[in-house]
Amino acid sequence: MPAPLRLGIAGLGTVGVGVIRLVQAEADRIALRAGRPVQIVAVSARDRAKDRGVDLSGFEWEDDAVKLAQRDDIDVYVELMGGDAGPAKASTEAALAAGKDVVTANKALLAHHGQALAETAEAAGRVIRFEAAVAGGIPVIKALTEGLAANRIKRVMGVMNGTCNYILTRMEETGQGYNVLFDECARLGYLEADPNLDVGGIDAGHKLSLLAAIAFGTRVDFANVELKGITDITLEDIRHAADMGYRIKLLGVAQMTGRGLEQRMTPCLVPYGSPLGQLEGGTNMVLLEGSAVGQVVLRGAGAGEGPTASAVMADVIDIARGIRLPVFGQPATTLAEAVPARSATPAPYYLRMSLLDKPGALAKIATCLGEAGISIDQMRQLNQPGEPDEKAIVLIVTHKAAPADVAHATAQFRATGVLLGDPVAIRIEEV
Ligand code: NAP
Ligand code: HSE
Repeated sequence: MPAPLRLGIAGLGTVGVGVIRLVQAEADRIALRAGRPVQIVAVSARDRAKDRGVDLSGFEWEDDAVKLAQRDDIDVYVELMGGDAGPAKASTEAALAAGKDVVTANKALLAHHGQALAETAEAAGRVIRFEAAVAGGIPVIKALTEGLAANRIKRVMGVMNGTCNYILTRMEETGQGYNVLFDECARLGYLEADPNLDVGGIDAGHKLSLLAAIAFGTRVDFANVELKGITDITLEDIRHAADMGYRIKLLGVAQMTGRGLEQRMTPCLVPYGSPLGQLEGGTNMVLLEGSAVGQVVLRGAGAGEGPTASAVMADVIDIARGIRLPVFGQPATTLAEAVPARSATPAPYYLRMSLLDKPGALAKIATCLGEAGISIDQMRQLNQPGEPDEKAIVLIVTHKAAPADVAHATAQFRATGVLLGDPVAIRIEEV
């Protein structure tokens, strides 16, 4: 029997416990597929006394993740603590310096330090694998780095945050408010330690930046992802969108244009019947467009114990098999500096605003749109039961318009004197 591949696991939360359960439940199958047994040798977390619902008595304990990463009796350091700095970064660097391979689920760490860590790992002949970091259980990193390796990737698009998709779809389904559904996400183990990473779109932006690096052969450029979260999305907008045949999704798009690399993670309306429009709950979906293959769609659980553990173990098994790939699919030193470009591709927009209900109010708004070169496709005015008479809710769907023109027109709305509150503008992505 070949020698076991020995793991040290730092972080015993949702993902760490999931990995322990999966290794224990599937030890024989994993050994057969990996060509050698996989053995957890030592673990680390903050609180040794915490009951985690799994038996840890067979593992050595380290209070300090850096010490765990440096142990002589581990081959692979599995970082499942999270955080873009602190112990996650220090222990990953320590593991590479000590000659260990690294498996991580930590997209924040790689979005901020991926280039430096990849260069360090590759100079030392080590690998860093991160399937679990993007879209949970969906093997999208493997698809890009292996299955589609010969393609020029034209576009990467998708819903990559289970928490946001869960909240948005359940708001529509149940009519419940954001806070109730946010709490449900916490119970399901979807949330990041800092939930603003989820609802602020940052977590999904981290994931998009990692996919873009592999897809376009560029250095990870999280700083230039255009980001907007879901905290401003109201039940009202979800209902209006549904009435018009759309659903609201936190949608990521990365594409290389003649002007540079566009990366955006923002709420969008997508057609109800489209694959993205049909995506429910914590499910993620990633669409990859390759020059030779055409469009590939991957769909699956984006978060939670089992799916994430599945992805972590896929990486561990690859290492056990002797598969050694550059971190971002090509040597880190060959990745080009990304030239960032603001998103400029025209699209229809959904606009919602409250206006003073008086003669000429709508004409002023239409003038702002016309002066910005934006043409109106559909328009509705709604009388809200119980609202004072002088207020009118106006919904407009535009023909295709450039993002900068929409931003200019909505800024001009404010100067009309007929606007009550801030207007809402959401891009409609015809996917
Ligand atoms: P979690 O449930 O909050 O667990 C984090 C674990 O890390 C806990 O066991 C905690 O110890 C430990 N930890 C935190 N800070 C530490 C420190 N300074 N030193 C030692 N241990 C420390 O997090 P999670 O959901 O498992 O996520 C872990 C990683 O996976 C994150 O990078 C996350 O982004 C990523 N991820 C999560 C999911 C998901 O569905 N949850 C999916 C994909 C990727 P204590 O338990 O003792 O407090
Ligand atoms: N908080 C993340 C999500 C976990 O909701 O998608 C998976 O990365």
